[in-house]
Amino acid sequence: MRISLQHAAKALLNGQVVAVPTETVYGLAASITRPTAIARIFSIKGRPASNPLIVHLSSLTEMASYLLACPEGFEALAEAFWPGPLTIVLPVNQAKIPAIARAGLETAGFRIPSHPLALELLHHTGPLVMPSANVSGKPSATAAEHVEFDFGADFPVLDGSCCPCGLESTILTYVASRWCIIRLGAIPRESFLPVLGYVPEIVTKEAGQKPLCPGQSFRHYAPKASLLLVKNIQAKTCGTLLGFADRTYPAGMQFISLGSSTQPEEVAENLYARLRELDLRHIEQAMVDMNFPQEGLWLTIAERLERAAQG
Ligand code: TXA
Ligand code: MG
Repeated sequence: MRISLQHAAKALLNGQVVAVPTETVYGLAASITRPTAIARIFSIKGRPASNPLIVHLSSLTEMASYLLACPEGFEALAEAFWPGPLTIVLPVNQAKIPAIARAGLETAGFRIPSHPLALELLHHTGPLVMPSANVSGKPSATAAEHVEFDFGADFPVLDGSCCPCGLESTILTYVASRWCIIRLGAIPRESFLPVLGYVPEIVTKEAGQKPLCPGQSFRHYAPKASLLLVKNIQAKTCGTLLGFADRTYPAGMQFISLGSSTQPEEVAENLYARLRELDLRHIEQAMVDMNFPQEGLWLTIAERLERAAQG
């Protein structure tokens, strides 16, 4: 059910859960002041309680009251990438963020989104926690109809059209005096070089410890269809293929286009809609053309496809 911004703001302040567009993917929002609504997010998504939520805010000033300290580089990152698809995980004043949203951790993830509707809504409501607006494990939602498909036609959605990035935010945290990437996302690794003076490492665990990004341990992004990731599509192959519009594939294949092989932004924007399309068309198995560079935004696209194929 599509609702207006005024309706969304009022519902959130009254302790309801509403789907909200961001520049990355749609989020399932609840006010940070409403633990019962936050608990409802976990139950409607089927999300494990051990997987924390990102706090979305409209300004740095708002963030200041939650943080214990700002590591070196924080301000430069904020200046360069906010509002935008960057999430920063830092230790927080635990009394200020309900434990359920943090999954009991001493840290929280923060992001100032750039989608104009999300920003305007946040101005009205104050900080909102939101995970991606999909049933846990499934591809994220990049259009209002994806949210309605997962949660029902009556679920309240603020319609912001299609999400331009199409992939979730890049998540950084600060470990041993260095920023590192704990989830690849819409900002490519290389983009941090001019801001930090180095390209952050991708780190999944601190030596022998628990995962730095709990969500990375769970099944994610997966359609029902099984995906076969292939670097070289052989002649005479048949079946369904997710591939690129500017390439020629064997004539017998049922082709679904991810976009142009020279435009990773376009492929990112289309990715989850195409994965969802496989299920809508009751396709049980599909090959994916993985012949693309392992750098920049392509690295995130490859990671999402690898996770989707593990499903
Ligand atoms: O682009 C995005 O980030 C979207 C939009 C809606 O903002 N949100 C999103 O939320 O992708 P979600 O819940 O699907 O993924 C958030 C990820 C999870 O993997 C979670 O484990 C991680 O962020 N995360 C959240 N808080 C964390 C924390 N304190 N420490 C480590 N990882 C954290
Ligand atoms: Mg998610």
